[in-house]
Amino acid sequence: MKRTILVTLVTLVCLIWYVTADSPRQSRIQGCYGECYEKYVEVHGSFIEELQAQVEAAEADEFSSIRGLWAGCAACHGMTGGGGIGPALAGRKIDDMLKAYRAGETRGAQSALMWSQAGQLTDPEIDLLSKFTVQL
Ligand code: HEC
Repeated sequence: MKRTILVTLVTLVCLIWYVTADSPRQSRIQGCYGECYEKYVEVHGSFIEELQAQVEAAEADEFSSIRGLWAGCAACHGMTGGGGIGPALAGRKIDDMLKAYRAGETRGAQSALMWSQAGQLTDPEIDLLSKFTVQL
């Protein structure tokens, strides 16, 4: 009986903490208006300015369109192309290899892993991925 009460109490305390704690679960702007919003704008700029800054950052980064794709590759080839499950790609030109995989060609013993990866890639994506790995 005592145990049940203790467990219930602990659960309640955790629940109250979870609901009230200020954490990244809450979006940064949610519930922030008046003085709070003015302070936010002072630090981050207005919402529009923030969006413009994001757009400018994306335009300045020539690899912005393939960064999402690369995150998938990085799971096996390492974020900086150092290799992992797959071979290291840093500093290497990879367009011909990707086109070979896309065409279903066998290169190494684990080529099947790469067929599905390369199968959906377009030519511009392959060219940009190659440019990206060369400069890693
Ligand atoms: C599930 C893990 C995995 C993912 C995800 C993956 N690869 Fe691979 N990759 C491998 C493996 C394993 C090999 C070796 C294949 C073989 O034996 O031919 C390989 C081989 C390669 C090669 C040939 C390297 C060499 O030295 O022969 C290139 C280029 C390559 N991958 C690029 C990519 C790119 C670009 C992506 C993302 C679009 C990607 N890979 C996603 C596992 C992966």
